[in-house]
Amino acid sequence: MSDFQIHLTESPRILALLGAGLSAPSGLPTFRGAGGLWWMHDAKQLSTPQAFDENPGLVWEFYLERRAAAKEARPNAAHFALAELARRVPEFNAISMNIDGLSERAGHPPAQISFLHGNLFSIRCTTCPHTIHDEAAEAIIAALTTALAHSSTSNLSAASVPTCPACHTGLLRPGVVWFGEALPSATLASLYAWIEAAPSIDTMLVIGTSAEVYPATAYIEAARKKLARVAVVNIEQEDPGLLGLEEQDWYFQGDAGDLVPEMLKKVVEELGNVELIDVKKITEVI
Ligand code: APR
Repeated sequence: MSDFQIHLTESPRILALLGAGLSAPSGLPTFRGAGGLWWMHDAKQLSTPQAFDENPGLVWEFYLERRAAAKEARPNAAHFALAELARRVPEFNAISMNIDGLSERAGHPPAQISFLHGNLFSIRCTTCPHTIHDEAAEAIIAALTTALAHSSTSNLSAASVPTCPACHTGLLRPGVVWFGEALPSATLASLYAWIEAAPSIDTMLVIGTSAEVYPATAYIEAARKKLARVAVVNIEQEDPGLLGLEEQDWYFQGDAGDLVPEMLKKVVEELGNVELIDVKKITEVI
C-alpha cells in the first residue's frame, strides 16, 4: 500500500476505470456473480436490444427496479475519494461503466469523468435521437410504475410502454447502452484525445470491474503503452479478466469502499493538506 501511495503522489496523470464493484459497497448488485440474476433472468440477457424487441415490458420492469435501487443507494467513501482526487489532480480522468449516478452524486467533476454506458435516469427513443431527462423522465417512470402496480398479471405489458413524443413511432427505452450497441462516439473521441494529449500516463486505477467487456481491456492496454503502472482493486482473489498484471503493478484485494479512500489518502493530504470531505455530511445533503 505505501509503495502505491508514494507512486500516486508522484503521478501527475492518472486514469481510472470504474466498474460495478465500485458501487457494490453502496448495496448495488454487480453484473457477474451472485447479483447477476433477476427473477431467474440473466441480467446480461435482459440488457440487449433483442430482449427489448421481444418483451419491452419485461426489460422496463428490470430497469424500473434498478433505477429505484440506484436512487435509494448512497455514494460510498470510494466515490467521494475519487471525486476528491479529481478536484486535486487536474490530470486525473475517470472512465465509468456504471449507470447508477453515484459518482455524479458524490460530486465528481463532470469534466473529469466519462460515462460509457449512459445512465439509468434518462430515457430515449428506440428510433429517433430524442432523449428525455429530469422531470419529464420522472413523469414517464411514474406512469410505468403505476401501470405495473395496476397490472392484473403483475407484469408490465408492451402496450403500457409509451411511444416517443417527438417522432410518435419508436417506443421509449432506458437511456443506457446495451450489449451489442455502439458506445457513444463523442465520449470515445474525447477519451482518445485525453490519452494521446501527453506522452505518458503515470497510474492506471482499475476499480471493481471484471474487465471482461470491451473496451475495458483496451483502456488498460492504452495506459500501459503510455508506461502506466496499473493498480487493481477487486474483492476477488483472482486477477480478473484479461488484465495480465505485470511485476510493477499492484493488486489490492478487498472492498473498494475501504481500499480506495486508503489508497488515495496520501495524495489528498500532500496536495492540499485538507481532509476528505465528510461523507456522512454530503450524503445527508444529497
Ligand atoms: N469491491 C471491489 N470489487 C468488487 C466488490 C467490492 N465491494 N464487489 C464486487 N467486486 C468486483 C467483482 O469481483 C467483479 O470483478 O467487481 C467486479 C464487477 O464485475 P461486473 O459485474 O462484470 O461489472 P463490470 O466489470 O462493471 O461490467 C462491465 O458489463 O455487464 C456489463 O454493462 C455492464 O457496465 C457493465 C459492464
